[in-house]
Amino acid sequence: MTILITGAAGFIGSNFVYHMLRAHSDLRLVALDKLTYAGNLDNFSALTDSERARFRVAKGDINDRPLVERLFGEENFTAVVNFAAETHVDRSIHEPEIFLTTNILGTHGLLRVCKDRWLAHGTWEEGRRFVQVSTDEVYGSLGPEGFFSETTPLDPHSPYSASKAAADMMVKAYHDTYGMPVLTTRCSNNYGPYQFPEKLIPLMIINALAHRELPVYGDGRQVRDWIHVDDHCRAIEMVLSGGTPGSVYNIGGGNERENVFIVGKLIDILSGMTGDAAICADLIRNVEDRPGHDRRYAIDAGKIESELGWKPEVRFEEGLERTIRWYLDNRAWTEKVISGEYTEFYEKNYKNR
Ligand code: NAD
Ligand code: TYD
Repeated sequence: MTILITGAAGFIGSNFVYHMLRAHSDLRLVALDKLTYAGNLDNFSALTDSERARFRVAKGDINDRPLVERLFGEENFTAVVNFAAETHVDRSIHEPEIFLTTNILGTHGLLRVCKDRWLAHGTWEEGRRFVQVSTDEVYGSLGPEGFFSETTPLDPHSPYSASKAAADMMVKAYHDTYGMPVLTTRCSNNYGPYQFPEKLIPLMIINALAHRELPVYGDGRQVRDWIHVDDHCRAIEMVLSGGTPGSVYNIGGGNERENVFIVGKLIDILSGMTGDAAICADLIRNVEDRPGHDRRYAIDAGKIESELGWKPEVRFEEGLERTIRWYLDNRAWTEKVISGEYTEFYEKNYKNR
């Protein structure tokens, strides 16, 4: 069986590649990735030779229709898992256009090629699946109570979440109109190895190690429901193999934490692991809030738990320690990804806050 993994060279995509190649010795994966600032072929350097033998990388844009068609001609894809996206809310506030191009038009381009290839004389080829990896951010923001369920109305606030919501609607349209076997997952905030250090946890780790300030937006009391990327990958695998076509599955770690708690915890663990007394609360700086900042995300994952038997397995404190250890052991990876374009973005996002 061969699966197309788009956006495979990013954070969750690369973790998913490791997970799937290790879990299924007869599986072949083809990665399609544009290798934007967030995509990194170094993320695959820990693959073994036998895993590499079942893995092909194609550099390219999901919007490049001839390329995607060529890949479908060369390979017999049973499924597509679409991770490819522009993913950072702050970047979407500065430069929204690319979010529309990749997240909406790119997703549609993939759906269109799948339909052209997998639908013949009104019948979908047996066993084909399209998994859209979406986000809980499409639901908007919660007050202090309640959870997002799969029936919560979409109410996105950022250009990022609006583009993901639009993509989800197009995926739904292909199911409702053409009967396409699609599945949509909506997960909460991930953390783990290979996450680009523009997102909260790796950014704070990298800055703390360099004794740079730790920029907390607004009052820092916003809540995210953190999940280790391994638990997310297992959930996607279960949806891919056992989910009901046309369905949405929420995925969450059940770890609601305020941003200030996360930053404090990172300081504690990092200063303990390194013995560096300069990693302390003095580094924290409250900066101007993110416009349209969602206050709280919290997931009701009851559906995937009861239908597919999934449950998060990584305890938050243990997952955080493992993640910090990974960043400490992979300083060369970080140095490389924060050289160049990252500095430009950092200046733009943080300089005048
Ligand atoms: P990421 O930014 O680390 O990686 C995105 C990948 O997509 C990169 O490898 C990039 O090169 C690639 N890409 C971007 N534009 C492309 C294009 N036009 N064509 C082909 N490839 C392209 O993102 P991530 O955190 O790994 O997120 C992966 C998916 O999971 C996204 O769809 C995101 O919306 C979703 N998601 C992420 C989180 C999270 O906490 N990180 C939570 C829920 C859902
Ligand atoms: P982020 O990792 O960007 O994920 P998302 O916005 O998709 O949830 O941010 C997580 C939370 O951390 C969010 O409430 C914004 C906040 N945050 C900061 O306070 N400072 C920062 O420098 C960053 C990047 C995020």
